[in-house]
Amino acid sequence: MLNLKESGTLKILDKVKSFQSKGIDVIQLDVGEPDFDTPRNIVEAAHRAMLEGFTHYTPSAGIPELRDAVAEKLRSENGLDVRRENVLITPGSKQALFYAVMALVEEGEEVIVPTPAWPSYVEMVTVAGGTVREIPAKDGFSPDIEGIKSAVNERTKLMILNSPNNPTGYVYTKEELGALAEIASDSRIYVLSDEIYEKMLYEGEFRSFGSFPGVDDLVITVNGFSKTYAMTGWRIGYAAGPRDVIAAMNKLQQHSASCPASFVQKAALAALSPETPVRPMIEEFRRRRDFLCSELNRMGAFKVLPPKGAFYLFPDISGTGIESVELCNLLLEEGHVSTTPGEAFGGFSGHIRLSYANSMERLRAAADRIRGVLEKHGLA
Ligand SMILES: Cc1ncc(COP(=O)(O)O)c(C=O)c1O
Repeated sequence: MLNLKESGTLKILDKVKSFQSKGIDVIQLDVGEPDFDTPRNIVEAAHRAMLEGFTHYTPSAGIPELRDAVAEKLRSENGLDVRRENVLITPGSKQALFYAVMALVEEGEEVIVPTPAWPSYVEMVTVAGGTVREIPAKDGFSPDIEGIKSAVNERTKLMILNSPNNPTGYVYTKEELGALAEIASDSRIYVLSDEIYEKMLYEGEFRSFGSFPGVDDLVITVNGFSKTYAMTGWRIGYAAGPRDVIAAMNKLQQHSASCPASFVQKAALAALSPETPVRPMIEEFRRRRDFLCSELNRMGAFKVLPPKGAFYLFPDISGTGIESVELCNLLLEEGHVSTTPGEAFGGFSGHIRLSYANSMERLRAAADRIRGVLEKHGLA
């Protein structure tokens, strides 16, 4: 356990907090957290539940009405063949991912992770005693399908996919998902499909991995409420998959969290209702993406295309002539703008990640500060 790496993203956060405690105004582009308030109908549902005394343990897998609502969402929006028994409600989708890895991966087994990838996947596999096979993306961040195929061997148990992707914003095409589904079904390997950024989509159509043929009994779909409904602090997410895997994950939940917070489950149920205003948040993210993308490209030292999804930019920083850790430190220490080094996502030292989940006003100020640091050091 002591060999686990500290969360790269949370490490930056510690440094940011120490600056802030000295009264320094840091513009945070390191956190993957919507700056919007949780929509009012969701807050009211939690409030009502608390006032009505819905403040006790619930069934460990979640309240039946929420499991049903999630199953219905996955059937109607995502084309998955799931019922209540296929659904587990968890305190955050991170917890769902953790349970899935713990339930599936045994000591010595291998897990394929296309990179750049969210850092927690690797550490979760390490906790479970497995080994990660990282397969770097090709130019433009499309997955290296041939590389993934040739990494599969008799020890391979699982593949972890994340589209729309953190940190690149890349959205897998239908053809890529189809090819990966074929690999999974031919080799009988499980796939953990992290679809947390499903709704943060600016072009094209979202396709859930589990809707492809031949993978029904192999896919664990994970999603949550943090990003879509600006509910990061509420800690609520879910997994859906084969009944035996979900049952095993539920046992892990029974012996750790017991159940997700009761009134938060009522809030999540309200979030899934059609009255929740999601669209305006997505449109605002699109405006911010376009703004920050064009600002960074204008600086000359960064190269980035507008990604189709999520709320991150992962520019190529090779034009600065320095590597990501050094650049992030400079931007934080001198410009008071926090970003995340590409190192954290599988050794991409020629990139940094910037989250545009921040107001236009703050993004404008951040762009000015970044430009100032680059010019001062002759890096632009
Ligand atoms: C790719 C990815 N998966 C999962 C999570 C975890 O989200 P939650 O707040 O639901 O635990 C995050 C959060 O940053 C993420 O970026």
